[in-house]
Amino acid sequence: MPVARNNMVPDDRTGLPVSIGLVEDPLDGCSGPLWLRGGIAVISADGFEYEVRNRVTLCRCGASKNKPFCDGTHASIKFQAT
Ligand code: FES
Repeated sequence: MPVARNNMVPDDRTGLPVSIGLVEDPLDGCSGPLWLRGGIAVISADGFEYEVRNRVTLCRCGASKNKPFCDGTHASIKFQAT
């Protein structure tokens, strides 16, 4: 089962708990995405603003076909964060 390591901090703007975590899946032997919670805005390098959501997973393996978001490909390639 994937687990996230994160540090919760309060968000004065939305009242939702805000956190950024790293998903690790030791049972499947791989590392997963960055896990953002609490309505954190995601903006691309060219300025495109994605829909703000309470929960978002961002690819950190580089293999997603739906970047910047995770599509689960990290599991099939057994991505290992270093
Ligand atoms: S981290 Fe999931 S596809 Fe890259």
